[in-house]
Formats: sequence, structure tokens, C-alpha cells
Amino acid sequence: MCGIAGYLGFRKAYPIVINGLQRLEYRGYDSAGVVLVDGNEMSLYKTKGKVSDLKKIMKQNNVEGNLALGHTRWATHGVPNDENSHPHLSNSGNLVIVHNGIIENYDTIKKELITRGYTFKSDTDTEVLINLIEEVKIKNNCKLGYAVQMALTSVVGAYAIAVFDISKPNEIIVAKLGSPIAIGIGENNSEFFVASDASPFIEYTRNAIYLEDEEMAIIKLGEEIRIRKIQDNAEVVPEIQQLKLNLEQIEKGGYDHFMLKEIHEQPQSIVDAYRGRLLASTGMIKMGSVDNNISRFLNANRIVIVACGTSWHAGLVAEYLFEDLARIPVEVEYASEFRYRNPIINKDDIVIAISQSGETADTLAAVKLAKSKGAFVFGVCNVVGSSIARETDTGAYTHAGPEIGVASTKAFTTQITVLALIALKLGNLKGELSNSMYNHYIQEMSLIPAKVEEVLKMDKEIEKIAAIYKDAPNCLYLGRGFNFPVALEGALKLKEISYIHAEGYPAAEMKHGPIALIDEHMPVIVIATKKGHYDKVVSNIQEIKARNGKIIAIVTKGDTIVREIADHVIEIPETEEAFTPLLSTIPLQLLSYYIAVMRGCNVDQPRNLAKSVTVE
Ligand code: G6P
Repeated sequence: MCGIAGYLGFRKAYPIVINGLQRLEYRGYDSAGVVLVDGNEMSLYKTKGKVSDLKKIMKQNNVEGNLALGHTRWATHGVPNDENSHPHLSNSGNLVIVHNGIIENYDTIKKELITRGYTFKSDTDTEVLINLIEEVKIKNNCKLGYAVQMALTSVVGAYAIAVFDISKPNEIIVAKLGSPIAIGIGENNSEFFVASDASPFIEYTRNAIYLEDEEMAIIKLGEEIRIRKIQDNAEVVPEIQQLKLNLEQIEKGGYDHFMLKEIHEQPQSIVDAYRGRLLASTGMIKMGSVDNNISRFLNANRIVIVACGTSWHAGLVAEYLFEDLARIPVEVEYASEFRYRNPIINKDDIVIAISQSGETADTLAAVKLAKSKGAFVFGVCNVVGSSIARETDTGAYTHAGPEIGVASTKAFTTQITVLALIALKLGNLKGELSNSMYNHYIQEMSLIPAKVEEVLKMDKEIEKIAAIYKDAPNCLYLGRGFNFPVALEGALKLKEISYIHAEGYPAAEMKHGPIALIDEHMPVIVIATKKGHYDKVVSNIQEIKARNGKIIAIVTKGDTIVREIADHVIEIPETEEAFTPLLSTIPLQLLSYYIAVMRGCNVDQPRNLAKSVTVE
């Protein structure tokens, strides 16, 4: 995720674009840049850091001009540094681009361009795209719009782009596939705004066009916008919308809180996590960092997972995944414990560090310790170029996009997605998972985003349940197998944001203590999916009911048995048991969210917590 803000018109472009970028920082903030055109003069400024760092640089520089494109970055290819920041220029220096998204086949295109004499200053996929556009433009001696269109037909991935030619500073070309882009239109087409959402231009115009996937727009000063389909060139009649939302609503995508927005982003973030890796059509999983170290993985004595908080819960799910699918023994450690207890690590062990931020001090220290003991350390991080991502030998990013809400949601499901891909691949290569089962799991994984979407539709039902239990002083969460870590994660979410005391337990452990707590005031959330030791969990539910406890059950669609006994049921679609955590987690996130809102808690910034814990 990145933020794009651009302006073309009669006003000074710089203040509009820089303020716009600040409003878009929720989309990423590891580096920022702006290009300005004043008459025939172009100036480009970019820096690692936040938009405020860019502003400091700009204080000493020329900020004139009526055309500008700005970008706030959330790195996907190449670490956050000045060179990798956007905007990027083509080799001739004539074409400028800002981009939000991922070009998956950039490496192949880059190699081809290099053989034809192109050079690259950055490690980004974006610089490859702008040079591809330039090559098409020169080869065909065509207009910029056509060159962008042609180039995009050979690109695989996701993008929202804005491109202009310095020699034609009255025109911007924008295009979209997967990532959002809005165009604000001034009176009589006297000015135009281009942005990832409408927040940068809300005070200037309420007339906006949101491009649809596979559409591109040619924006020319004084003319009507022209929109066409990228693939077949079909003309599209522009649909101008009247914006009704206010600034804050726009930044949160219309949701009341970032947490809710991030919960709802999960169908997309799971796709982003497996994009280019899960090749459902060929029945393959491709992951460079695993493929390049495949003998290490296949010969590993065991995998040790280190993490904290929600990432530790993702590690627990991964333990079930690796052991069940690939038959590799796994130990999951709290990073804080691991680093202080002289752990036994051998050189044939693989240590996997999981961290959303990539900055958690205890996890980072655990990584350093494991490396010092000779282990091969693999990172599963969300933030590109973060300390853990750099310190580990190699790794795989989760590509969840920035997570702003302190309570982790989409980071958890994308971590599980990435770890599941690794487990499946190793399981198949080790002969533990037949080709047909492997293929079945791959197909099933490709269906998960739509199934998450289905669970999210129960939003209102879950809100009603939340209203009934919002004043409970305690809550129990029970699950078995793959869903035991989900029970822990559900309890953590509730504690974190609603300040209700909650405990997660393996369902069968209830009789060894927690059952003493059950009375008519105790809500118990039970994950009772069809394939997961179902009968045993049903017995646990009976035991709770016999003591008048209140049951909220997460069940597989179509379940009739639990429905008879439980006070409330929330259905999730059927999937392989190994993938149920990706679905069963969602209602628990929503339940905590609504309870916290009803209790008047600060959902996005709960008391005493921090998003990135860089102290011990
Ligand atoms: C903090 C956050 C949690 C997060 C944990 C680990 O406690 O509040 O949401 O799970 O840190 O963070 P990491 O960035 O390493 O995943």
C-alpha cells in the first residue's frame, strides 16, 4: 500500500500535494517524494522517512508550479531509502511515475530492458514500469496514453499509477488494477486532482471519479476526462460522483475505525499475501526465499518459531501446519523467553521469526541469538526493510499493507497464509502430501478470500451478540487443534481493546480448572468446526450448558447439532481444517471490536499498548 497525490491546474500544486500526502500517510510512511513542474522546469525531491521529512527538505527548495505528483511509500520491492522512493523517472528523464501496487513480473521485464540498454537506479518494480512505458513510446512513436496502455497489457500484478511527460505538462495519465485511484474534477475542467482516496482534494471539489479495475483515464487541462478499458480499448462513460464523506471518514475508507477497516481488508490482504506465490492454475507454490534454500528446509531437524503477541499465535497455528502437513517437528517460543533461557539451537535447525512490524525488540534479540548459534533464520514480516527483515538470513513478506490499529488483525491472517504456503510446499516435496492433496489444498487456499468475505457479511449479527455480552466481566475462549491458537487470539483481542478479562484454552483443558468459573454470567466462545474433533467439542459445550454458561459457537455452515445447544451460533464456510483459523478468527475480531466500541473504548489506540514494542 502506498499513497498517491497529484494536482494539475491553476493553483500552486505543492501545498495541495504535500497536505494530501500527509492525509494519505495511513497508507504507508517509510519514504516520500514529490515532483514539481514549473513552466519547462522539473524538480524532483525524495527521501526516506515521513512526509514531514520531505517537508523539511522542501523548505530550502523551489516549490513553484501548477503540476505535481507526490507519493508516500510503503515498501514492497527494495528497502525504504531515497533511491527507492517515488516518483521515478524513465531513462530519458522525460517520463515520471508514481505507483501503488506490485508488478509481479517486473524482474523478467527488467532483465529484457537491461539487454536493450536500459539502466536502473532503484530496486523497484515501478522504475521498471516507467522504462517499459518509455520503450513502447519511443518504439511506436506514439502518445503517452497509448504507451501506458500497451505497457500495462504486458504487466502482471496490481497497480494504481499516475504518469506524465515533462514536455507535455498539461496531461496526466492514470490507470488502475487492484489498487484504488480517485480523480477530483474542478469547475469546467480547469483543475484536476489525482489521489489514492478523495482526502487530498475534499476541500477543493466534491466531484470525483473512482476508476474501476482495468480502466485508464486521460486527464487533460480544459478537456473532459476520457476513460477507456486497458485491455480492449473500449470507451467508458465517466461516472462523476458527489462526495458526501468528511475527511476523517475518507481516510478510514468510510469505516469508523482503522481496526474495522483492516478487518474488512482481509479478503484482499490474503490475496496480496499469496499473490505470485500460490499459482492455482498450475497447482504450484513458488516462494523465492524457500526455493533458494530448499535443501535446508527439507533437511531441517526442527523448526523453532519465535514471536510475540498475535504473531506468536500465528506461530502456534504454524506449528500445527508444519507438523500436520510437512511432518517437521516445531517448537513455538515467546521471543522474550527464548532469548533469556540459553536455548539449544543446532545448525540444522531453522528459526522462523514472525513479526508484523519487524521491530519488536524481543523478537529481534531472539533472531540475533539464533544467528549467533549458527541457525538459519527466516523472517515472516510485514514491514519491508524493517530490522527483523534485514537481520534474518532470508524471509517472506506478508504484504498485508500498513496495519494502523494497534490490535493486530490482517497481519495475523496474512502470517498464517504465508506460513501455510511454506508448510504445503515442504509437505509436498517431502512426500508427505500427495500431488493430488497438494493441488486440493492449493485450490482450497485460492477460495479462502471469498470465504472470508462471506464471514464478514455476518457483521451485523455479530454486533447484536456483542450488545448482549458487552458488560460481561470475564470471557472464556475454547478451541482445539488448529483452532486452539485462535481461541488464544480471540481472548487476546478482547483483552486488548475492550479491557474485559478473557482466557483462551484448549477445549479439553476446561475440566482441569476453568470449568470452576462457569455460571450463568460466563460467556464462553467455542470454536466447534466440523472437522476439528467435533464430537469432543460438542461434549465440552454440553458440560458448559449443564452449568448454565452462555455459549457463542463458531460452527461450520449447515451445523445443526451445536445450534440446538448453543445460545448463539456464527457460521463459517467449510474449508480444510488446516485453513479454518483464517475464517474462525474473523468473527472473534468483530466480536471484540463491537464490544469495545459499545464500551466506549479507544479501539485503535487501546490504553497502555503500542503498535511496535521496541523496548524489552
Ligand atoms: C504489540 C502489538 C501486538 C503485536 C505484538 C507483536 O504488543 O500491540 O498487536 O502482536 O506487539 O508485534 P509484531 O510487530 O512483532 O508482530
